[in-house]
Amino acid sequence: MKKYVVEGGNPLFGEVHISGAKNAAVAIIPAALMVNGVCRIENIPRISDVSLLLSILQDLGAGVRSINSNTVEIDCTHVRNAKVPYDSARRCRASYYLIGSLLGRFGMADVALPGGCDFGGTRPIDQHLKGFKALGAAVEVQSGFINAYAIQGSRLTGANIFLDKVSVGATINIMLAAALADGLTVVENVAKEPHIVDVANFLNSMGADIKGAGTDVIKIRGVKELHGGTYSIIPDQIEAGTYMAAVAACGGQIKVCNIIPKHMDCITAKLLEMGVEVEEIDDSLLVRRIGPLIKTNIKTMPYPGFPTDMQPQVAAVLCLAQGTSIITESVFSSRFRYTDEFKRMGAQIQVDGNLAIIEGVHHLTGAQIQACDLRAGAAMIIAALAARGTSEITGVQYIERGYEDVIEKFRKLGGTISAVEIPEENEALSVG
Ligand code: UD1
Repeated sequence: MKKYVVEGGNPLFGEVHISGAKNAAVAIIPAALMVNGVCRIENIPRISDVSLLLSILQDLGAGVRSINSNTVEIDCTHVRNAKVPYDSARRCRASYYLIGSLLGRFGMADVALPGGCDFGGTRPIDQHLKGFKALGAAVEVQSGFINAYAIQGSRLTGANIFLDKVSVGATINIMLAAALADGLTVVENVAKEPHIVDVANFLNSMGADIKGAGTDVIKIRGVKELHGGTYSIIPDQIEAGTYMAAVAACGGQIKVCNIIPKHMDCITAKLLEMGVEVEEIDDSLLVRRIGPLIKTNIKTMPYPGFPTDMQPQVAAVLCLAQGTSIITESVFSSRFRYTDEFKRMGAQIQVDGNLAIIEGVHHLTGAQIQACDLRAGAAMIIAALAARGTSEITGVQYIERGYEDVIEKFRKLGGTISAVEIPEENEALSVG
């Protein structure tokens, strides 16, 4: 167990290199299960969710070889096992993608229900299951496992599916299952996040026939087999947004490198409203905040709207903006648990259902705070770096699920942050 100790109050300067997208990697690794041959995946982030998924693939019989710290070769040619135990699946939300990929490849999957970040509300997967059933699978939830199998033989059958809810997970899972099905699948009202396009591009580069990813309708013509190949994962939109929010909160000037600026538009637009300067230079953004922060209102939406995964980080910035800002969380029923920790630092926030009303304060003060999920944890680093005095952040295992080298990257920007081991006798107190 570790905690992060942060000495706040300094502006950030320098360059930060953005890693491969977590939410693409955690879908592409399960997708590799469907490939007969070796997939070489580049720009893979070194984060704990990736390590966990790679170890699940190994347990299933895959060959996994690290070429360097951000490139891995996966060979699933000899995988025959389609059961993923509770201990593995519960530790990662994205383990639900193993259902779609195993079902697509073998016509059967037996995967424990997923875990991952708990935002304080329910995170149903009914749309995933509805999709699998439409593709001709029988699906049962029993003793904490999802047992799914193709009713007719070992392959699913293409179908028309209309999602009741715009869901990232359901869109990708149905795309995975349908890639090796017989015939054409048309999925409507799908999510359009950049990592959905990335997963479709990965599958297509391995021989799949998927069209329309990034629009409201995706058409998947099932192919007989996927073959090996090389693929490089896109940069992480949310990691980039996190560093942009950090310089907004702390002041200073940083260059956020190796990104796709277009993916950042929804975040850039809000930072500009807050008085932050953002300039596009090729595949980088130069982000500068010199003057005061200005209040703004934010409503989270599916892409290309403002991402719910940036909501806590931008809330940290708004805690320091002049005036009253309102955040409306419209993707998840509840995602404001972190605000109690911000209040310990002197933030003025009232939560009412899916609204957070933030009255900006002149400064925050360092405190002992606890990360309750991945993005809330990132927001706590931002608040702590901007605050006066020392903060101690526990629950950092959530942060390490999704941020590669977060300590090193902030230190390179001039942040005073270090990881400290928590003596065992203090762990119970720290994790509450
Ligand atoms: C994914 C991301 C997560 C991000 C979220 C929204 C991954 C691994 N995780 O999560 O970081 O916060 O997208 O951008 O990529 N819903 C249903 N039924 C379903 C599925 C979803 O009602 O079957 C609801 C959810 O409760 C939520 C909304 O739809 O209210 C969106 O969820 P979804 O897009 O599916 O999020 P995840 O795939 O869980």
